[in-house]
Amino acid sequence: MISLKDKVIWLTGASSGIGEALAFELGRRGAILALSARNREALERISSDLTKSGARVLVAPCDVLDIEQTKATANLVTKTLGTIDIVIANAGTHIFSVPEKFDSAEYLGLMQLNYGGLLHTIESVVPAMIARRGGYIVGVASMAGYRALPRAAAYGASKAAAIHFLESLRFHLAEHGIAVSIVNPGFVKTPLTDKNDFRMPFLIDAREAAATICDGMERQKLEIAFPSVFKWIMKISQLLPDFIYRPIVRSIWKSM
Ligand SMILES: NC(=O)c1ccc[n+]([C@@H]2O[C@H](COP(=O)([O-])OP(=O)(O)OC[C@H]3O[C@@H](n4cnc5c(N)ncnc54)[C@H](OP(=O)(O)O)[C@@H]3O)[C@@H](O)[C@H]2O)c1
Repeated sequence: MISLKDKVIWLTGASSGIGEALAFELGRRGAILALSARNREALERISSDLTKSGARVLVAPCDVLDIEQTKATANLVTKTLGTIDIVIANAGTHIFSVPEKFDSAEYLGLMQLNYGGLLHTIESVVPAMIARRGGYIVGVASMAGYRALPRAAAYGASKAAAIHFLESLRFHLAEHGIAVSIVNPGFVKTPLTDKNDFRMPFLIDAREAAATICDGMERQKLEIAFPSVFKWIMKISQLLPDFIYRPIVRSIWKSM
């Protein structure tokens, strides 16, 4: 078990949804926070609420698509708050894939944010973590990265890439005393999922997601996947042969 109290935590995607809820939950648990996203106004509002409840917060706007900006933000966090103990690479978005209107630029753009943004964030902290032989990296992927789902060609591919990358990175970073957790949420009610036009199974609210992520971080779990029932359904579905998996998914999709 680790305590999040007094840990310097750099959180990306902190301006809304899961990231915003995480900022409040981490603040409640006594973390020292650096909050990044592009929307400075939203970060200022969150910071002001957190500061009122006694948390120490740095607003550090950043576009994770820009590697130089991301590295400069990591430096700013270190100079202002001290060594970054934990980074949470959470920034990301979702688009539906409509292969009938195939647009590779759109798909690559999503990959650039969901996978490239995660890489930029991690690259910005890893050299310092290796040098001091310690640190903790938390990458937010998704259960959509487990196995192919309809309309999720672009999103699922970006999250599968993130999961694969983090699982591989973990082998190397363990030798440098650095821990890696992968967060794989199911459906969480946020501005991202508010756009969905279907009934989302096992939907939970962002505060519950944030509490589960923080509990998992305190245990440095390899994978923080939730909600639990949905996680097991998705895990078991990974084991099904295609001739069983495909008709089940097609019939669920058609009934949604
Ligand atoms: N909600 C779910 O059901 C669900 C399920 C599985 C995984 N996830 C993952 O959880 C993460 C958070 O999702 P959410 O549901 O909380 O979505 P959200 O409410 O749309 O929040 C996305 C966050 O990412 C930030 N962001 C987007 N582009 C950015 C960029 N170029 N640079 C820096 N920050 C950027 C946004 O801030 P700005 O616009 O201010 O930059 C915002 O803070 C994502 O990685 C998502 O894929 C969500």
